[in-house]
Amino acid sequence: MSTWWRHAVIYQVYVRSFADSDGDGIGDLPGVRSRLPYLRDLGVDALWLNPFYPSPQADAGYDVSDYRDVDPRFGTLADAEALIAEAHAYGLRLIFDLVPNHTSDQHPWFRAALASPPGSRERARYLFRDGRGSRPPNNWSSAFGGRAWSQVPDGQWYLHLFAPQQPDLDWTNDEVRAEFESILRFWLDRGVDGFRIDVAHGLAKDPAMTDLGTGHATSGPAVEGHPHWDLDEVHDVYRAWRRISDGYPGDRTFVGEIWVADPARLARYLRPDELHTAFNFTFLLAPWDAKALRYAVDESMRALASVGAPATWVLSNHDVIRHVTRYGDGATGLRRARAAALLMLALPGGAYIYQGEELGLPEVLDLPSELRQDPTFLRTQGADPGRDGCRVPLPWSGTAPPFGFGPSTAWLPQPPSWARLTADRQSSDPASMLSLYRSALRHRAALAVDDSLTWLPSARDVLAFSRAPGFSCVVNAGDRPASAPDAVRGARLLLASDPLASDNTLPPDTAAWYLTETR
Ligand code: NOJ
Repeated sequence: MSTWWRHAVIYQVYVRSFADSDGDGIGDLPGVRSRLPYLRDLGVDALWLNPFYPSPQADAGYDVSDYRDVDPRFGTLADAEALIAEAHAYGLRLIFDLVPNHTSDQHPWFRAALASPPGSRERARYLFRDGRGSRPPNNWSSAFGGRAWSQVPDGQWYLHLFAPQQPDLDWTNDEVRAEFESILRFWLDRGVDGFRIDVAHGLAKDPAMTDLGTGHATSGPAVEGHPHWDLDEVHDVYRAWRRISDGYPGDRTFVGEIWVADPARLARYLRPDELHTAFNFTFLLAPWDAKALRYAVDESMRALASVGAPATWVLSNHDVIRHVTRYGDGATGLRRARAAALLMLALPGGAYIYQGEELGLPEVLDLPSELRQDPTFLRTQGADPGRDGCRVPLPWSGTAPPFGFGPSTAWLPQPPSWARLTADRQSSDPASMLSLYRSALRHRAALAVDDSLTWLPSARDVLAFSRAPGFSCVVNAGDRPASAPDAVRGARLLLASDPLASDNTLPPDTAAWYLTETR
């Protein structure tokens, strides 16, 4: 029997924006617990929760000061344990977010490093270096803007590929390795089903710390030969972790956040003794264009097949502009997002749904500057608006903010126009995005198709493929109506992202699922 993570639909819960139980305006674990019935009814298999550990929140929890507890803003350790138990009782698995590339600057280890002299055991857990005269050790820059080095009072510099409050750990250090293996066991012992690994391609750095040359950027998918992304040494870490997870019963799994340009490089992380799956950013980054999407599908599947790993598909997450907006915003963006959902959920492998995409939420583009919290916005003095626009709290019910998110004003303001988009309102509308996701997930679970994908001959702007036995998906990504390919003539229409014409022609930006006779 195939293991669950090979074809799971995993819902990303951005905890601070999901549901607030205690009225501080910030979502929390009891809030997640209260909405488990919604997630079960949606029909997903598992939840991935963004970090909820104690953290000064310099980067929304990706600056962890204690890996074995829960931040009081988000609840207690007992809440996390109760969440695991309750999710399991609903048949939902749980994936937690592990942040191994860096700690918070308030982590006891970093505080000890600052209190200890250069060359000490405490400093050796991080990447402290002497500068070049008054300049930092090299020219690396932070992914959030500005330089990747900060100087401490005794003159040494420490590396932070993200914010200064996120010092990078030295993964050649045995104490660092042992500590994270112990953290893995801490959560595995509590029944967590897997981990999403933050910046999984970043743990190893070129020991010579050579300057970043032309052709290598800090942001975006990494190209081979980069001095701090995707170094071969990182694979050792995952081999050790895999040995640990394999020692636990129940198919525990790792999904890597790995930004590399070449799908073949991505596949290296998914060799049989390393991670199980990785996010497919090639698919996420593809524009709404049949050729680009087909290329992303083909390349991903080809590269991953070479290591026997399943593909995963993702359209949005908490770091990118929501795809309704990326695909054109307004009615066009929404139509395309509906079609994209049917495309993604028809492909072989696993799929990720970012909270709110099932409601068709757009990016919030007009957040007031003084409310923005993303370090990207702050470190670029607003030149980069940052990621707050995709992190606005969910609208659950009612006609005015906070739309049932919690008892009081939410940490980021929700647009009043979201009254149309609440989960409650969409629940009773068969034409809503929520109803589309629910139907698609219900059909997907019942399809029982294998992992094959065969492209069907189709017009240029159309993606059409079949999966055995007897299932086909057709997507018209063009701006003109397209007739369905011959292969699905006479097939039974299972679901369409928008109504088809009476002769079964697909309008622009529409996808449809069919059952063919051979079933
Ligand atoms: C990737 C996370 O998804 C992002 O939100 C975070 O800012 C960086 N890693 C740094 O941890």
